[in-house]
Amino acid sequence: MKDKSEASSEFAKKKTLLEQRQYLPIFAVRQQLLNIIRDNSIVIVVGETGSGKTTQLTQYLHEDGYTSYGMVGCTQPRRVAAMSVAKRVSEELGSNLGEEVGYAIRFEDCTSEKTVIKYMTDGILLRESLRESDLDHYSAVIMDEAHERSLNTDVLFGLLREVVSRRSDLKLIVTSATMDSDKFAAFFGNVPIFHIPGRTFPVDILFSKTPQEDYVEAAVKQALQIHLSGMGGDILIFMPGQEDIEVTSDQIVERLEDLESAPPLTVLPIYSQLPSDLQAKIFQKAPDGVRKCIVATNIAETSLTVDGIMFVVDAGYCKLKVFNPRIGMDALQVYPISQANANQRAGRAGRTGPGQCYRLYTQSAFKNEMLTTTIPEIQRTNLANVVLLLKSLGVQDLLLFHFMDPPPEDNMLNSMYQLWILGALDNTGSLTPTGRLMVEFPLDPALSKMLIVSCDMGCKKFTLHTGHDQVREKFSVPESDHLTYLNVYLQWKNNNYSSIWCNEHFIHTKAMRKVREVRSQLKDIMVQQRMNLVSCGSDWDIIRKCICAAYFHQAAKLKGIGEYVNVRTGMPCHLHPTSSLFGMGYTPDYITYHELVMTTKEYMQCVTAVDGEWLAELGPMFYSVKQAGKSRMEEITNMEEEMSLAEQQLRSRREDQDRKSNVG
Ligand code: CDP
Ligand code: MG
Repeated sequence: MKDKSEASSEFAKKKTLLEQRQYLPIFAVRQQLLNIIRDNSIVIVVGETGSGKTTQLTQYLHEDGYTSYGMVGCTQPRRVAAMSVAKRVSEELGSNLGEEVGYAIRFEDCTSEKTVIKYMTDGILLRESLRESDLDHYSAVIMDEAHERSLNTDVLFGLLREVVSRRSDLKLIVTSATMDSDKFAAFFGNVPIFHIPGRTFPVDILFSKTPQEDYVEAAVKQALQIHLSGMGGDILIFMPGQEDIEVTSDQIVERLEDLESAPPLTVLPIYSQLPSDLQAKIFQKAPDGVRKCIVATNIAETSLTVDGIMFVVDAGYCKLKVFNPRIGMDALQVYPISQANANQRAGRAGRTGPGQCYRLYTQSAFKNEMLTTTIPEIQRTNLANVVLLLKSLGVQDLLLFHFMDPPPEDNMLNSMYQLWILGALDNTGSLTPTGRLMVEFPLDPALSKMLIVSCDMGCKKFTLHTGHDQVREKFSVPESDHLTYLNVYLQWKNNNYSSIWCNEHFIHTKAMRKVREVRSQLKDIMVQQRMNLVSCGSDWDIIRKCICAAYFHQAAKLKGIGEYVNVRTGMPCHLHPTSSLFGMGYTPDYITYHELVMTTKEYMQCVTAVDGEWLAELGPMFYSVKQAGKSRMEEITNMEEEMSLAEQQLRSRREDQDRKSNVG
């Protein structure tokens, strides 16, 4: 039983939430929106960030009866957004998170039988469409934040376009923060665009007079200047990534401590790897008289709305995953943002009143150096997972799949090649049993390959653990960063997964728990797939061999002290100073690496020593020099022929199409 005061304070909370809902710009057009959705299968909804699209549309559809014959699903390109929005909406509906309103992200399903509104990452919906190609569980799907043009969203576009043509009872709503809406409407067959009238305040834009050498330093100074100026309102700083965010936050706090009688300021970082309870803090109101200063990645650009921001400080950069053909893989790199990003960022300052935006770059850089909009992810990443997914969805001819912006043919062929190397595709380009198994794992193809191989080699133990964490030197295993991580995990396990143990060794308990969680989920998938789970005991060489089986295409050979060259390309690459192999006086002849990171030079991250012979055994298509197995060489030639054939076919089809459209 609740006592009276508690009940009434809960009522007050509900009332304010309801009032808040009714204050949103989308509320004024609620009925019109529902009408247009009733009359059309597909609608594009455009509205300023903060107008209520993400939190309200699902509820309107629920209130209008759509959830009586299926769920209302809403996809988000970002995990953080899916979680925080689901939480908010469950509060607005007055239910517990995971009941009527739930969310699903990779490795975490917070939904139940009761769930009627489901927020999820676009990757989750893609996977669901694999099991249930018509998405029968849903009565409506909202593809939110479509302007972000994430890879998964782009693939979903092509798939959902087909699903809607098969299912007349399904509603598809595509939302966007203004840009590109005409293009969306055209792609789906000239469907209607609904504009939510905005309510925004003017934002003064102030450019830097000269280019900034150090945007972190510039941002710290700017934030302090705003804070000490006496003007009210919260501050939002945009940084490219976690590292910069941490440095910026620390610097602001430090310098404020040096000042006497500075007014109080709460500095709140937010980025996708931040634990969710800390993320939630940015939405909490600061105590009276305390200013909030949020330091964020472009996560706060459109997917998260924080009320009360009056000042935006924009460093002008973001991190993008870009496929680098030279090294044959994706790399996260810092890039200048686009003009569209810059304008979205500025807009964040004008939601609750007039605001100011400080751009830490010059007006000329904005005009002349920034692209109008960001290049869609599909045109800049490694498509291997998409290829796998589309193949498993039964799409035969990938080069003819209906993409809004088709990925460059070269990237497509390159991905197919990579999957062939890993044994996921056969010589005819069809999915192999290994490939079919790989689709089940929400991992990079090389990682899923590693898991699959580990079952054959009998050492699931390691591969289920591919964590990332701060690791103290004492756990270091000199041959391998992977094994170092494993060592940490096993010791943690030996200490009953204790958080005290973590603290003693300066290891994030949260991260370790996540590792444990991921491990158990991967294990579940493996059990589900009836894979053979055996432990290798203490034979860690087998583990290194498994790693080699998955990463032989990313191998390097010792050249000088601490200097390696890529075995296939001859490109120099370096051990990262954080690697267990770095400065241990032990430099193996051959290593494989998980990832190349480019900062001042090309660094290999997560490195494991391997035997030269394993490379030849496990990656015979590259390293078969010694006993050049003839059959393998034939296969390579076959594959290469297939690929050039595919190219020719595509070209002639295009010519056909051109001819047809010329005639028409
Ligand atoms: O999607 P859109 O940008 O149009 O707006 P929204 O995300 O639905 O946000 C509408 C309102 O809900 C904003 O005023 C947010 O401050 C609030 N909101 C919140 O308080 N907590 C969240 N986790 C998400 C939204
Ligand atoms: Mg939104």
